[in-house]
Order: sequence, then structure tokens, then C-alpha cells
Amino acid sequence: MKEQQYADFIWWKHGVIYHIYPRSFKDSNNDGIGDLPGIIEKLPYLVDLGVDAIWLSPIYPSPFKDSGYDISDYTAISQDYGDLSDFRLLLNLAHEAEIKVIMDLVMNHTSDQHPWFVESSSSIDNPKRDWYIWKKTKDTNQPNNWKSAFGKSAWEFHEPTQAYYLHSFFKEQPDLNWRKKDMRIQFFKEIEFWLNLGVDGFRLDVINLLGKDRKLRNNPSIFRFLFMEKSWFNRNRPRSYKIVKKLRKLIDKYPNRVLIGEIYNPPPGDSQLVASYLGNGKDSLHMAFDFSLFFKRWEAKKFYKSIEKLQNEIPSKAWPCYVLSNHDLSRGINRFGKNKFEKARVAAMLLLTLRGTPFVYYGEELGMTNISLKRDAIVDPLGKRFWPLYKGRDKSRSPMQWNASIHGGFSYQTPWLPVNENYAFVNVEDQLNIPTSMLNTYKAIIKLRKKSKSLQKGKWKPLIKGDDQIIAYFRTNKDEKLLVVLNFSAKSKEFKLPKGNYFTIYSLLKDFENSKPLNKNFILPPFSGFILKKKTENQ
Ligand code: GLC
Ligand code: CA
Repeated sequence: MKEQQYADFIWWKHGVIYHIYPRSFKDSNNDGIGDLPGIIEKLPYLVDLGVDAIWLSPIYPSPFKDSGYDISDYTAISQDYGDLSDFRLLLNLAHEAEIKVIMDLVMNHTSDQHPWFVESSSSIDNPKRDWYIWKKTKDTNQPNNWKSAFGKSAWEFHEPTQAYYLHSFFKEQPDLNWRKKDMRIQFFKEIEFWLNLGVDGFRLDVINLLGKDRKLRNNPSIFRFLFMEKSWFNRNRPRSYKIVKKLRKLIDKYPNRVLIGEIYNPPPGDSQLVASYLGNGKDSLHMAFDFSLFFKRWEAKKFYKSIEKLQNEIPSKAWPCYVLSNHDLSRGINRFGKNKFEKARVAAMLLLTLRGTPFVYYGEELGMTNISLKRDAIVDPLGKRFWPLYKGRDKSRSPMQWNASIHGGFSYQTPWLPVNENYAFVNVEDQLNIPTSMLNTYKAIIKLRKKSKSLQKGKWKPLIKGDDQIIAYFRTNKDEKLLVVLNFSAKSKEFKLPKGNYFTIYSLLKDFENSKPLNKNFILPPFSGFILKKKTENQ
């Protein structure tokens, strides 16, 4: 048994979850595409890093019009990644290594190649017609003003049956109709297929979009549209919440499974909306992403405020989670501006010591940065559509940098996206040998987290509320009291310790490690971070 697995250790709450973009993690058969055997090969790396679970972006069969978020079969594996027996093997080996496996699940839409849509679009009286959202209009007017998240109208006219169908994303991703019971029953059966296989949970893609207005009313004007997501008619309607509750009931029939919702909340971020999907803490999602840290400039006060807000909004019985990077947005490190590597280590200490489950996006632990592509090299259709204004999402999806050999050790073949040129010095093999590397920083704090119940589940209490440069908070559990102090600034800052004797148990700067009890006033070097422990009588 792992060290951290005390009796009430709840893996999804107290552990660290690692997000793998399967196409870019490790290519085992040299076709330039990452695959399941590649992930299997790298399980020892994940064990060494110390993560408790992996979440895989979609690995189902797909025409890949939206990189696998357009699924054409929910109970199989895409040939690009392997087959079901590879998946079973991955699941077994991961479980042996005490790593849980979370799948990505897209419930809002399918691919237009999915047999359900093929049937639904075949005629207006097909039994599956209403499994999708069709609307006939008198003339050729659009049914309403809803926009696709990927630009233009959310309605596509289907000539053969002379009606529009709804697609919240690309037109190759028709939206399912969650008012249809027989569709839901079938969908839930397919979810149970994975639960029976032993999958530990799901990350639910755009889960708040499931419930749409029955009357298909127009969305409000553009200003309110941008800032008041709650007033939109194409998402967050009561049905979204209802389906989430039904799903929770289903999942609860299986022990120890988890539901994590993607509630994409555009800037400035809306923690209240996120929290609303956690219900009473027991009847809805286990966790939901809050993207507000994504949109904050590098400023201690701004970060602090969004953390405080989330901590306050989350229902007392529910649990928060934190994320700095994902496959849709710029990598966290690229948003930090000047001195990004130093800042990314401060951010790592923050992420891994807050009260809430940390999600680490593959390569983040190396300080992998965005790639930039010429027009011809772009793969993401969104980038193709909006170039040069927006270059799409490829930037944060480049192959994992394993070592300094060809293609960063990801593959011997030209990969589906180029490896970042910095792989010669930003890679796993080299960083393992450098004590203060990003990788060793992640490893060390994760290790510390495993040993400390305060970090895993303790209370969170700010020492400073909203300083411009410093974030400092306590994490406490029973008689353990830790104090995390982070200097966001490029300048040294004076810091006053609270009452009691504190000593350093971890510092981002090596020479500060395990120092003697600290002076009441001590100087925080630029971009430093400390985990301090209060001395108690019996120490
Ligand atoms: C989510 C995914 C994104 C995808 C979209 C549509 O936001 O993270 O990659 O394109 O949903 O499924
Ligand atoms: Ca491959």
C-alpha cells in the first residue's frame, strides 16, 4: 500500500490527477501518434512523479474533426490509440500501480458519423429523429440567434430533410437531445460499459450545455451574452442539473467512482456557476473545474481573490479543484510573461498546496511551453478557421518531451504535431538530474503532499488577504500546522512570521531547505516559495 493510503484516503480528493493528451504522450509503434501502449510504457514515470490518477482526453473512435471530442462510438477505442485489449491492460497495470483511470466523456454531442445521427438524419420519422435537436422553420430563417462556441450560427441546414439541427460546436458535432428518455437510457448503458470494465470516473465535457431552453428562446444581447452566462438559453437550464443528478445516481452504484465537470466559464470566471453543479455536495458532480485562475494576470492579489472566491462558493460538503493548464488554452507558463520558469515553480507550489484536488496537465511538470505554428502546419480546425486572429489549440498539445533525442523521445517518426524546439533542454531525462528543475519541484511537493494530511485535506486559512506580491496561507489538520508563503514578485520582500516557531520543510530555493527556526522577519527572495511547519511541544 502506498504511504498516503490511510483509512479515509479518498483518491480523487486527496490525490493528484494527471491529465494526459493521449495523442501526444508517447508513440509506441512509430506512426507519429501517441497511443495506449505508449501510456503503458510510461506508467513507471507516472508512479515516480507520484500521481494518483490519470485522466485521458477522448480515446474513442472518431473522425477527429475536433480531435476526438466528436465521438462516433462510445464503447470502443480509436484505432489510432490501440484497441480494447490495450485499454484493459492499461487499466489493470495502472490499478496495480495504484493509479486510477478517468475517461473523458462527451455527452452534449456526438460525431455526425455516429450511427445515431446517421439514423436521425435519414428521415423525419426515424425513431431516433428526436435524439438530436431538429427544427423546421417556415422559411429558411435560422430557428434562433444561438451561436456555436466555434463561431457562426449553431444551426446547420440539412437539405435532405429540410430542417436545421443544432450544433454547439462544429457542424460535425450535432447536439444530443437530453429530453429524450430512450436516448438517455441507451447513453447511460454505454457509460456502464466502462464502469463495469473498472474505469474510475469521467471528466464530463461541457456538461452544463446539456440542458437547453425547451422553447429555444433567443439568447440575450451580445453584452449580456458575454458576461452573464446564467442568462443564456442554450446552457445551464434546469435539465443540465437534472441529468447530472441522474448520472450521479448511476455512478454511485459503483464504489469509489468520480464525476468531474467541465463548466467552461469565460473570463472573468464564475465560481458560483461552477459551485452550482456540486449540488449539496453529495447528489451532483464530485468536482467541477473553475477556470478563473486561467484568466488572471500574474499578480498575487488577483490569484488570491479568485482562490478565496472559489473556497467561499463551494458548498461545505463539496470539494474544490485547481487547474493551471489544459488542452484548450494556452499553457499556464506562457501566460505568466517575463521570468516564466521562475513563476511556474511558484505556481506549482500554489497548485499543489491549496485545499482542493490539483490537476497537472502533461508536460506542465517540465515547464513545457506552447509551440507556435505556421499556417500550413496547423491541425486544429479552429485554428484554420480563425487564422491569423486566433491560431487554435495546437499550441498546448505538442508531444511530451521525454529526452534530448530525435522528436524528444516521443516517436522516431515525424509526430502529428511538432515537438517544441526547446526539448533539448526541457525534457524528463535531463530534468531528473537537476535538483531544482521543474520536474523535481513537482515531484518533491507531490511527495510532501503524500506525507501530509494537512496538505491533502486540512483546513485552508489565509494569513494575508490580498497582498500585491505575497500569498500566504495555513494548512492545518489536527496538531499539524503548515504555512505556505509565496513571493510572486521579481524583488525581495520582507515577510513577518506569525507567532510561534517555524522551520522550513520545503523551499523552491535549495539553500533554504531545512534551515533552523526562522527569524520573525525574514526576507523572501524573488519568486520564492516556502512550506513552513510550526513547531509543536512534542517536536
Ligand atoms: C470541451 C473540450 C474541447 C472541445 C469541446 C467540444 O471544451 O475541452 O476540446 O472542443 O468541449 O467537445
Ligand atoms: Ca502510435
